[in-house]
Amino acid sequence: MVDIFDRLKNVKGPLGQYQNKAEGYFMFPELEGEIAPRMKFMGKEVLTWSLNNYLGLANHPEVRKADAEGAAKFGMAAPMGARMMSGQTKYHKELEDKLAKFVNKPSAYLMNFGYQGMVSIIDSLLTRKDVVVYDSESHACILDGLRLHIGKRFVYPHNDIDNLRKQLERATKLAEAQGGGVLVITEGVFGMAGDLGHLDKIVELKKDFKFRLMIDDAHGFGTMGKTGAGVGEHYGVQDQVDIYFATFAKSMAGIGAFVASETEIVDYLKFNMRSQIFAKSLPMPMVIGALKRLELLQNNPELKDKLWEITHALQNGLRKEGFDIGHTESPVTPVYFSGSVPEGTNIVIDLRENHKIFCSIVVYPVVPKGVLMLRLIPTAVHTLDDVNETIEVFKIIKKNLDAGKYMSEEMQSMKVV
Ligand SMILES: Cc1ncc(COP(=O)(O)O)c(C=O)c1O
Repeated sequence: MVDIFDRLKNVKGPLGQYQNKAEGYFMFPELEGEIAPRMKFMGKEVLTWSLNNYLGLANHPEVRKADAEGAAKFGMAAPMGARMMSGQTKYHKELEDKLAKFVNKPSAYLMNFGYQGMVSIIDSLLTRKDVVVYDSESHACILDGLRLHIGKRFVYPHNDIDNLRKQLERATKLAEAQGGGVLVITEGVFGMAGDLGHLDKIVELKKDFKFRLMIDDAHGFGTMGKTGAGVGEHYGVQDQVDIYFATFAKSMAGIGAFVASETEIVDYLKFNMRSQIFAKSLPMPMVIGALKRLELLQNNPELKDKLWEITHALQNGLRKEGFDIGHTESPVTPVYFSGSVPEGTNIVIDLRENHKIFCSIVVYPVVPKGVLMLRLIPTAVHTLDDVNETIEVFKIIKKNLDAGKYMSEEMQSMKVV
């Protein structure tokens, strides 16, 4: 027998094992100041490309005002209790009605966090007889929801529609034999690489197979489609997306999430999602703030236009300079380099210490061995000067990397932690 605490102190987990070297710098860095392209990191101003504040709403004066008024009028505690017991308000319902209308679905239901919400949606929708088919690069909330599914699941390689067809054949056979149904789950925008779930091709498969489709459109809501209603709208297939899910954590620059579908399905979720039945209602300032954010998102298309102007300038500029930015079709902008993890570490140090650019880096095992991905998130509040400055710095970084500069240990000493 072991003492559980002893084990945890020795085996810190896949990320925790790097705590001593990475905490405060590569992991859990503290960005200070108002949410904006220029913030402070370790006392110095940096140009930030790592916040999903796509539309720039985080610091929009009307949003700040609505948040403050919501808190002043209702306090942070209201409403008390879960929605089902004592936490229901007309504002929660108003927000749901407006969200449903915006994403072109009959009904919507709020959830306190996207992550918990998705886990709970999957948990409550399915029985052991149902079969799930899902994209291999699905977000952790989908994978963790699937852990609660006691029936079968089949995974298809990322966006491989031929393979999805094969998995649907298997899933259909099994579901028929068991008397269950089939649910396909994918994302609208894949948040790491910025490519889209191929909803147009997936819904085509509905001609040959009977299944329901759920999408996690965390990064597509507010950024994609003519009105910003997401990737279903972008492809013109929103009516064939059976369950639409998005979080407020990205373009809405808030907290909370929602699920939208047919009214009877939303009602089912409302009465069965354990993460919402057994948890406190979304606090009133969040709801009041989300109403304001949604109003701005809908009535100010210039925010999305600006986001895309910056996105196009960044992505076209990087491509023009010969950078590999993969297959992104969204604002998410990955920049791929060949290099080792220590080289990646040195690149981040150089970017932050010498060039004052703050962005996220993704290394093996999230990307293949030998690949480094620097991930840039443009927003409506970045400027074309920010873009040009960044591209110039990336040219220097690439030159240094090609010259082997980041192989040396000396850079490590620049790190101030
Ligand atoms: C694709 C995707 N789904 C779900 C979530 C979780 O949403 P939340 O932050 O509201 O829990 C995120 C991250 O925020 C995400 O990127």
